[in-house]
Amino acid sequence: MAIEIKRVGVIGCGLMGSGIAQTCAQSGYETIVHEVNQELLDKGLGRIYGAWDMLVGKQKLSEAQAQEARGRLRSTLNLEDFRDCDLVIEVIVENMEKKLQLFPHLDRILRPEALIATNTSSLTITEMAASTNRQDRIAGLHFFNPAPVMKLVEVVRTIATSDETVETLKSFARSLGKTPVVAKDRAGFIVNFLLIPYMLAAVRMYEQGFATMEDIDTSMKLGCGYPMGPFELLDYVGLDTTLYAAEAIYEEFKDPIYAPPPLLKRMVLLRRFGKKNGRGFYNMSEL
Ligand code: 3HC
Repeated sequence: MAIEIKRVGVIGCGLMGSGIAQTCAQSGYETIVHEVNQELLDKGLGRIYGAWDMLVGKQKLSEAQAQEARGRLRSTLNLEDFRDCDLVIEVIVENMEKKLQLFPHLDRILRPEALIATNTSSLTITEMAASTNRQDRIAGLHFFNPAPVMKLVEVVRTIATSDETVETLKSFARSLGKTPVVAKDRAGFIVNFLLIPYMLAAVRMYEQGFATMEDIDTSMKLGCGYPMGPFELLDYVGLDTTLYAAEAIYEEFKDPIYAPPPLLKRMVLLRRFGKKNGRGFYNMSEL
């Protein structure tokens, strides 16, 4: 049974969740976003409203369009409010235990034809699908940071995902102004399979004293035209996020190019996560 996506639920209103909810509401979808407490919800909503104010200021969005988008966005602390959603995008912490509590719960609440997608960058989607009775309607929908700006969405299919689900999610991504690509449910999908070893190689180079962080960043920006150097990108994406993704890909393939370098592990142990908490390879709070 094909489903027309009209109402979208986004679970998690952190950096990625708020960016995804913003994009959905801006693209005309009735959107409802969930967080585990009011403080986190207010923080995420503040980020979305701030982005709309910024876009109005830059005349990329009219005042009326921003008001309409605001009117399409609802927020809740109660998952039961997702019962009418046609598509729910899970954007909670990268913790399989928590996802395996959430997926069966959503499976019970949602209509049988509704789709559930996960924005996971490192966990096995098949395991999430296996915890539900709608395995054909579960897939990855992997956005890139910053979600409202980056044009790519990876649609990740498990061996149980139906063609119809894949096609619906591709059309949905296009309706958000994104370009979808399809990847199989193997750790790293397409982008991280290539991006993670590049960032890890930069950390190893720095750790081994090849060059300074600044010179490595400058080299990749000016030598290759990348918008950010690898250390700027690590701080931007999050050192913790990068470490978990690297560990997941290493676990799956045991290829040493994915083995996290000791420095990255130690930075994360010191809670130097990057932009999200103000301390990373660069001392972001001083930037
Ligand atoms: N909504 C809509 N538009 C927004 C926005 C938002 N929330 N935030 C920023 N923008 C727009 C700005 O208005 C601006 O538009 P303009 O150029 O037309 O004025 C544009 O985005 C760029 O923003 P800024 O001017 O603030 O910043 P920069 O020009 O320095 O660009 C950047 C910032 C887009 C982050 C750029 O440096 C970049 O592309 N970096 C690389 C990011 C990247 O590689 N991301 C992928 C990471 S991997 C990942 O996410 C996967 C995960 O699993 C690890």
